[in-house]
Amino acid sequence: MSDRPRLLPLLGATRHGSRDAMTCLYRCGNACDHPVPNSSDNAYFGDLVEAEVSRRGVVRAGAVGALVLGFGGAAAGALAGAAPAAAAPGTPVVPEATDLGRPQPSTGALTFTPIPPNQLDTLVVPNGYDHAVVIRWGDPVVPGAPDFDLHGQNAAAQSKQFGYNNDFVGVLPLDRRGRRALLVVNHEYTNEDLMFPGFTGLDALTVEQLRTAMAAHGMSVVELERVDGTGRWRPVAGGRRPYNRRVTALGTRFELTGPAAGSAWLRTAADPKGRTVVGTLNNCAGGVTPWGTVLSGEENFNQYFVGADAAPEELKPRLARYGITTTARYPSGSRKWERADERFDLAKHPNEAHRFGWIVEIDPFDPESRPRKHTALGRFKHEGANVIVAKSGHVVAYMGDDERFDYLYKFVSDKKFLPGDSWVARRHNLTLLESGTLYVAQFEQTSAAEIDGSGTLPADGAFNGRGRWIKLVSGNRSYVDGMTAADVLTFTRLAGDKVGATKMDRPEDVEPSLLTGKVYVALTNNTDRGKPGKAPADEANPRNLNKHGQILELVEDRGDNTAESFVWSLPIVAGDPTDPSTYFAGYDKTRVSPISCPDNVAFDAAGNLWISTDGNALGSNDGLFATAVEGPERGHLKQFLTVPVGAETCGPFITGDNRSVFVAVQHPGEITGASVEKPASTWPDGDYAKPGVVVTWRLDGGPIGS
Ligand code: FEO
Ligand code: CA
Ligand code: CA
Repeated sequence: MSDRPRLLPLLGATRHGSRDAMTCLYRCGNACDHPVPNSSDNAYFGDLVEAEVSRRGVVRAGAVGALVLGFGGAAAGALAGAAPAAAAPGTPVVPEATDLGRPQPSTGALTFTPIPPNQLDTLVVPNGYDHAVVIRWGDPVVPGAPDFDLHGQNAAAQSKQFGYNNDFVGVLPLDRRGRRALLVVNHEYTNEDLMFPGFTGLDALTVEQLRTAMAAHGMSVVELERVDGTGRWRPVAGGRRPYNRRVTALGTRFELTGPAAGSAWLRTAADPKGRTVVGTLNNCAGGVTPWGTVLSGEENFNQYFVGADAAPEELKPRLARYGITTTARYPSGSRKWERADERFDLAKHPNEAHRFGWIVEIDPFDPESRPRKHTALGRFKHEGANVIVAKSGHVVAYMGDDERFDYLYKFVSDKKFLPGDSWVARRHNLTLLESGTLYVAQFEQTSAAEIDGSGTLPADGAFNGRGRWIKLVSGNRSYVDGMTAADVLTFTRLAGDKVGATKMDRPEDVEPSLLTGKVYVALTNNTDRGKPGKAPADEANPRNLNKHGQILELVEDRGDNTAESFVWSLPIVAGDPTDPSTYFAGYDKTRVSPISCPDNVAFDAAGNLWISTDGNALGSNDGLFATAVEGPERGHLKQFLTVPVGAETCGPFITGDNRSVFVAVQHPGEITGASVEKPASTWPDGDYAKPGVVVTWRLDGGPIGS
């Protein structure tokens, strides 16, 4: 008799929209079951002045500016001529631009043959490419980590092993020859059904199992080595590996920075000064900064808290705006972590929830450094943050709040980026996100009268318009009536409501192209758009009951990323290209791949846009796609890979030498009814499902895509 696990059927599982119900439960605490937290009545598009912008104008408006380039394709940049910090005594060296960060000769054309949509329980790449698992859940990270023991998992072991449900992926070069690099990964959430053998329900978990799950959240830093000069990478297996590190929800201490640090909102019994937080939660996407650190977004943190029904009455609206249920002790999907740590009980510690929902910065080159939560970048369900150095030298971080009808933000630093390789420069740059100005986006439209929710392209040939960045707070100065700076930063959603920010279709990754300065926003979907009592379609969110999402391109005025106004357009309205409501920048739709629910975006060294998906509403497995965003191939979207059954494609990250594409395979086999014993996916090892990071490369050693 075979002990091979039985596969669950793919179809027929309970689904919420395009996601399996099990993903809804574990990933966002059944957010779809809860009311949309944004019940504000702030202005819709239709109330705003219409502006005329020609489509050509939108396309031309980008300017390169004084961008620093390099340091890995999707990363903000190090540094042709700028960069590596010389080490202070006893601190690691941040490397200079290396082969890994130096664009290789390439036409930039995406010549790979697209793969077809499929439901295979494997990772599929184009002909001429190969892939390998770099690291998976339970693999050792910290030297001395015990081997993974499925039946004997514990928090101490998991705190040294690779965490669960990898999401963001960054690869930072460690040497000048492209042989070593640091892999930095987020671990967004856990799925206890698929982690613990014999699972019978969340309430039956032992406290040690709860603590193990906490240790499986957070981040990992792993030293990699290139395999035999190819595009393949693997973890360094032996030796000291001084950079290898786990950051967890269980034990890692974070410093709060910025104007809200120390405020009354952030003080708790355990931290009466409001300056130190234990743990990070639901780390979703992120970005690599030009100074060689990693940013990570704390997203659906609400699901970890209980007891808000007994929180102080005056606090309840503020908790509710962040999706925390205030009418029941145990909301649907509750993880009940208060059984392991009472700070997750808001009846006892009502301010603890305010200590999550921030952008986290970690310095992977200094394993002793304390990670920080930057209050100056505001508090919401942060998908991630991506930084560009503006012409002026100020750094600009673009950010999305991933909730139906929530907002798009940007942060502009007070101080300027210091290029160069000195220790002084790096020390300075590490402070850039501690003070600055936070803005929220308001979009205007050119064709308001024609937007009927069907997705029909307006007569002017584009979903497009102008827009402006509304200033919320600058240092300790608030621009929002009735709110202090600490109020605005801690309850940023409420500030956005007050100033009339535009309600978007779930802003996920927001990333500037380092080649053009143009910014790309993944708006993943919003099946509530246009429902009774909800905001109707507008030109930036042009479809009611939006299942498939869209990509928004934002071009700052004068090509200045610090500008307070911009033009925007939708280059891609996603879905099956045979669906008349889809749009691919005017490209021949018979030649593009179907795409649904864009989530994470990245750029290769040639400036092509790579898009990964979450929750394919067309029935195929999720995947990774690429398209040019400039020139005649703009809109020619092609599918590069698919991930196994039940999984979502996260990351992605294309190394600056264009020879390696990394993706995170998140929640493989996450289909209702699945378990360790009865998996819906057996990826990657043929036994039970394990999230893992994959690298893809071209067999002939050439640059990816071209
Ligand atoms: Fe964790 Fe917005 O995806
Ligand atoms: Ca228009
Ligand atoms: Ca995401």
